[in-house]
Amino acid sequence: MPTPTPPGTVRPTTPADLPDLARLWNDAAVMRHVGFPDGLGITADDLGRWWDALDGDPRRRHLTIEAPDLGYCGEAHDRADPAGETATVDIKLRPAAQGRGLGALGLSAALDELFGRDLARRATVDPHRDNAPALRLYERLGFRPDPEGSTAEGHVVLAVTAAAWAARSARPG
Ligand SMILES: CC(C)(COP(=O)(O)OP(=O)(O)OC[C@H]1O[C@@H](n2cnc3c(N)ncnc32)[C@H](O)[C@@H]1OP(=O)(O)O)[C@@H](O)C(=O)NCCC(=O)NCCS
Repeated sequence: MPTPTPPGTVRPTTPADLPDLARLWNDAAVMRHVGFPDGLGITADDLGRWWDALDGDPRRRHLTIEAPDLGYCGEAHDRADPAGETATVDIKLRPAAQGRGLGALGLSAALDELFGRDLARRATVDPHRDNAPALRLYERLGFRPDPEGSTAEGHVVLAVTAAAWAARSARPG
């Protein structure tokens, strides 16, 4: 039986990825889901400063998602608080890369590393209530509503704990 082809790959972001990342963040079709209906409008200089801050911070990681037929697909980013309690996680794919399992791939890689390195006890996301693909993705990966979470109006905070992620990852299949 042939080995199934993985839908894509996930690797640490490098400075060479920043032009693709700027295109992702400036794409209104992507960024409208996270509160920027016209895209972020970020410049190369701004992005360079953002990268410098991220690159020197051990509590943050940025991953790049790629697929053989599409090249650059998107990002996963996590940022743990100083106490190592909670990490916020972001996932974004360019439109051509959506709907083929790459969101789960990228987010799972981020959570594996976050919890595998014991950088946080739980991870949170805060999708808009109308963002059905994001809500479905998070639910499928084990995120559940966080009663203590507070975020912008219209959004909901969901959380997955390190223990729940480990139990899920240990499941056969
Ligand atoms: C959210 C995002 C990361 C999801 O990743 P993805 O790889 O595209 O995920 P999929 O398209 O496979 O969809 C995830 C699930 O939502 C379902 N779904 C897709 N569109 C849907 C819709 N309009 N209504 C309901 N469910 C939908 C899919 O069927 C799938 O469910 P399944 O696992 O049961 O099959 C991606 O769509 C994205 O980058 N969106 C723009 C940025 C964004 O919203 N980021 C998240 C901010 S919180």
